[in-house]
Amino acid sequence: MINFEGKQGLVCGVANQRSIAAAIAQQLGSLGAELCLTYGPDTKGRFENKVRVLADELNVKQIYPLDVREDQQIVELFASLDKAWGGIDFLVHSLAFADRQDLSDVFSKTSRSGWEVALEVSAYSMIPMAREGARLMRKRGGGSMVAMTFIGSVLAVPNYHVMGPAKAALESVIRYLAREMGPENIRVNAVSAGALRTLSSSGVKQFGEMLKVAGEHAALERNVTLEEVAQATAFLLSSAAGGITGQSIYVDGGFNIMAN
Ligand SMILES: NC(=O)c1ccc[n+]([C@@H]2O[C@H](COP(=O)([O-])OP(=O)(O)OC[C@H]3O[C@@H](n4cnc5c(N)ncnc54)[C@H](O)[C@@H]3O)[C@@H](O)[C@H]2O)c1
Repeated sequence: MINFEGKQGLVCGVANQRSIAAAIAQQLGSLGAELCLTYGPDTKGRFENKVRVLADELNVKQIYPLDVREDQQIVELFASLDKAWGGIDFLVHSLAFADRQDLSDVFSKTSRSGWEVALEVSAYSMIPMAREGARLMRKRGGGSMVAMTFIGSVLAVPNYHVMGPAKAALESVIRYLAREMGPENIRVNAVSAGALRTLSSSGVKQFGEMLKVAGEHAALERNVTLEEVAQATAFLLSSAAGGITGQSIYVDGGFNIMAN
C-alpha cells in the first residue's frame, strides 16, 4: 500500500492542468502528501495562475517561482522549504525546454545557443535541484527523487531533435546522482513516459503522428495516460520502491520493447 501521509515534498513543472506534474501532484495529494508547487518563468503569468488554481484544489500552501536557470531561485526555494518544513521526503523534476527553432529545423542545424538552453534546463538543472534537495532529505534520513525522461534519449525519434541528447544527459545525471546519494538513503530515478499531449509536446513538430505511432506500436496497443505516469512516479517516490535507484523506468505501454 503506497501511502504519503506525513510526507512532504516538491513537485516542479506544472504549467497547466494537462502537465505531467499536475497529474503527479494530484496523485501524491490523493495519497496524503503535503506538497510544494513551483511555477516556471512566463512573462504573462499564466503558469503562476494555473499553479495557484491547482494549489487551491490540493490545499497546497507552499508555492514558489522557479526558473532553473537562476541558481539564486533554486537556493531560495529550498531555503524557504527548510524554514517551513525543516526537511523534505521527495522531489519531482518534471520540466524541460528547447527553442522552437531547434525543434522545427533539421537536427544538424541545432544552434549552439539552442543546445545550451535545452541541455541546461532539461538536464543540468537536475544537478543543483538534487544537491539542494538532498540537503533537506538528509534531515529526514533519506528521500526519493524522480525526473521525467523520454525514449528519444536512446532512439532517434522523428522531430525530437535536441531534446534527445538532453534526455540522454538527464538519464546519465540520474545514474551519477544515484551513485553519489545512495549511501545517504537517497534514491534517484527517472520515469520514461510514453507520448502525452501537453504544452511542451505541442512544440514538437508532427506530435500527433508521434502519438499515433506510439499508440499503434506499443505492446498494450494504446497510449499511456497521465494517471498511469503519475502512479508510477508515486510508486518510485514511495518506500515500496525502496530497492530501486539509478533507473529510467519506461511507462509507455511497452512501446520500448517492440521491434516494430
Ligand atoms: N509530454 C510528453 O509526451 C512527455 C513524454 C516523456 C517525458 N516528458 C517530460 O515530462 C516533463 C514535463 O513535461 P510536460 O509534457 O508535462 O509539459 P509541460 O509543458 O506541461 O511542462 C513543462 C514544464 O517545464 C517548465 N519549464 C520550462 N523551462 C523552465 C525553467 N527555465 N525553469 C523552470 N521550469 C521550466 C514549464 O514551466 C512547464 O511547467 C518534461 O521533462 C518532458 O520532457 C514529456
